[in-house]
Amino acid sequence: MAPLLDVTDLHVSFKTDRGVARALNGVSVSMQPGETLAVVGESGSGKSVTALAIMGLLSKKTATVTATRMRFGGRDLTALSAEEQRQMRGRDVAMIFQDPMTSLNPVLTVGRQLSEIGELHLGMSRRDARHLAIETLEMVGIPSPASRMSDYPHQFSGGMRQRVMIAMAIACKPRLLIADEPTTALDVTIQAQILDLLAALQAEIGMAIMLVTHDLGVVARIADRVQVMYAGRVVETGPAEAVFEAPGMPYTEALLRSVPRVDVVNEVPLHPIKGSPPDVMRLAKGCSFAPRCELVQVGCQADVPPLAKCGPDHRAACILATDRRDEA
Ligand SMILES: Nc1ncnc2c1ncn2[C@@H]1O[C@H](COP(=O)(O)OP(=O)(O)O)[C@@H](O)[C@H]1O
Ligand SMILES: [Mg+2]
Repeated sequence: MAPLLDVTDLHVSFKTDRGVARALNGVSVSMQPGETLAVVGESGSGKSVTALAIMGLLSKKTATVTATRMRFGGRDLTALSAEEQRQMRGRDVAMIFQDPMTSLNPVLTVGRQLSEIGELHLGMSRRDARHLAIETLEMVGIPSPASRMSDYPHQFSGGMRQRVMIAMAIACKPRLLIADEPTTALDVTIQAQILDLLAALQAEIGMAIMLVTHDLGVVARIADRVQVMYAGRVVETGPAEAVFEAPGMPYTEALLRSVPRVDVVNEVPLHPIKGSPPDVMRLAKGCSFAPRCELVQVGCQADVPPLAKCGPDHRAACILATDRRDEA
């Protein structure tokens, strides 16, 4: 099947007062229609920048974006005008954030904001757009949706506000929903409800979901595939089960040992990863994880290891990836 999203060798750098921050250094992402891809990695690894670059939301003033290929649904994203990009963002690709107030306007009622989507993106009459707005609020599980239309965002609880933001994102039934840490600010029960909601909406609309998270419990719960990022590179990619069962990259293994998971009883005590991620202003040669890696080898600091096959559809950027598979 032709991929829905096909990004190859994406580089993003930012000019800052301190110098050039190399946020992404050759990231490739491919997604099939309807699939759920989890993008994981410590803070600063480039997850949000990847999402924003795909959405075309990075400011041209500070960010330099290049890629050998950036296609969505067969269209070349790099060739779109600003207007075409805006259209695509409302209709085909939508994004939700950790903080709902990033996408909600505090001075407009929820009903007005939702109705505008139908009017602007789908060319609906005011009446039809209002109907769509109520229907969408119902889809995301807002009780008595018609009566909540005249409420402002601050009149909703945290979890309900997150649902309103999801309603804004899915009103046009996008083919791809990018969710950047959508549940991080919520308490555990509400987190689970929001994830179940995303999964249910996905089944209903058939959209693909790119879920950016640092919570591996979330990943195990809903992802088909996982992509692990470190220092602006993809260091492992594969089916969620394979990555969890037999990580090919010591970083992934360390990440799995460092975070609690809601889906399994942790048999071993949590084990934080020693050291901190590298400064993207000063990336050294070779594997960026080498200075923190317990299995570091002589060759690790020579070149950046390519993504090597370590299982069906499973690749890891580690010189040990194939050896360790042979051992297993
Ligand atoms: N607008 C910006 N200007 C300068 N540096 C940035 C900017 N946005 C992100 N970065 C840097 O890019 C790197 C990746 O950031 P980000 O994608 O936000 O990480 P995360 O994986 O936590 O989402 C970080 O080192 C961050 O400091
Ligand atoms: Mg982020």
